[in-house]
This record gives sequence, C-alpha cells and structure tokens, in this order.
Amino acid sequence: MSQPGKFITLEGTEGVGKTTNLEFIKETLLGRGIPLLVTREPGGTPLAEEIREILLAPRDEAVSAKAELLLIFAARAQHIEEKIKPALSRGEWVLCDRFTDATYAYQGYGRGLPLDVISALETMVQGDLRPDLTIILDIDVEQGMARANARGELDRFEREKMSFFEEVRKGYQLRASAAPEIYRSVNAGQPLEGVQNDIAKILAGL
Ligand code: TMP
Repeated sequence: MSQPGKFITLEGTEGVGKTTNLEFIKETLLGRGIPLLVTREPGGTPLAEEIREILLAPRDEAVSAKAELLLIFAARAQHIEEKIKPALSRGEWVLCDRFTDATYAYQGYGRGLPLDVISALETMVQGDLRPDLTIILDIDVEQGMARANARGELDRFEREKMSFFEEVRKGYQLRASAAPEIYRSVNAGQPLEGVQNDIAKILAGL
C-alpha cells in the first residue's frame, strides 16, 4: 500500500514570487523522488481553466463579489474531483499554486464577504480535504505591486487598490497565526536565496 500523498499549497499576495518558488518546491520534492502533481487555482482542469479566464479578464461590467466567490468554488469543485483527489488517492503528493486560503484572503478579507459563508462552501465542495502544509510568501504590499507592475499587463485582481491587498495580506497573516501547525510564513521581501533557504528548511521538516 502506498502512503497517502501530502497536499501542499503556496499562497501570497501579488508579486510575491510564487512562480519562481513553486518551481523551487517542485524541484526539491522531485529531487527526493516524491511522485508529484503540480497544479494551480483557479484552474487545473480544462473547465476550471476556462473559469479562470473569466475570473481574471479585466471587464467593464462590475463583477459581483458573490458571483466571483461562486465561480471560484465551481472551478475548485471540478479541480478537486478531477485532479486533486485522484492524485492523492494514487499516493502522489499535490503541490497547488493557491487554494482556499486565497478565497478567505481575497474574497473574505479583500472583498468583505462573510467568512462563515466561505467556510460553508469549503465544507460543501471539499468535504474534509484540507492542505497538510500551506506556505505563505509574505511581502510588503507596495514592494509586491511594484514587481507585479513590472511584469506588464495587469489582470482583473492586480488592478485592485493597494488597500484591497493590505486586507488580503492581513487575511493571510491572521489565518497563519491561527493554525501554526499547518501554515508557514516566509519573508518574501528578502533576497531569493534567503527565501529558498527558508522554504528548504520547511520542506525538510515534512
Ligand atoms: P495568480 O495565479 O497569478 O496568483 O492569479 C490568480 C488570481 O486569482 C490572484 O489575483 C488571486 C485570485 N484568487 C482569488 O481571488 N481567490 C481564490 O480563491 C484564488 C484561488 C485566486
């Protein structure tokens, strides 16, 4: 019998260096011979990627926060059933670029939707599926936005005000401090080598 796989998620506000560090985590785990599925949210399956495009596209029509929330959970439901659960039950580890902590941070703290509504949807869509480890890359919002701006065209979320991202960051910090057994916060404002040293130590502890 294979061991059940571990479910690891990576989170953070815009421009925090998620892509580079996701690659680093992936290489570290693969280097240890761990069977691994790397995926992302919103997205991860053809249907969920279509929903992602809808969510990220800048548009003139104001998007209702509730519509946004439900689209995110619709994508997540598909992703979990089609990809995450099958991989975990095959004994693979799953490394996911964002998951439900992003919903608490962005739609809960950022948009101001009630956390208990998010929690009810989380239970409905995920059952008891929760990450075993969540790494939060934490950075000063202005520093992160400067990096995101340097990448070019901004998506619908990246166009939000600084105050929105301050709330999102606060949301992540509150969640991390409420459950230190699951969350590890990494200072993403330091040079990349330091970030990756910190991440390597966290992974070594798994
Ligand atoms: P990213 O893949 O570049 O991080 O972009 C995804 C965007 O979607 C990011 O701005 C955060 C947002 N998002 C939410 O608002 N709620 C969620 O639950 C998830 C997974 C992402």
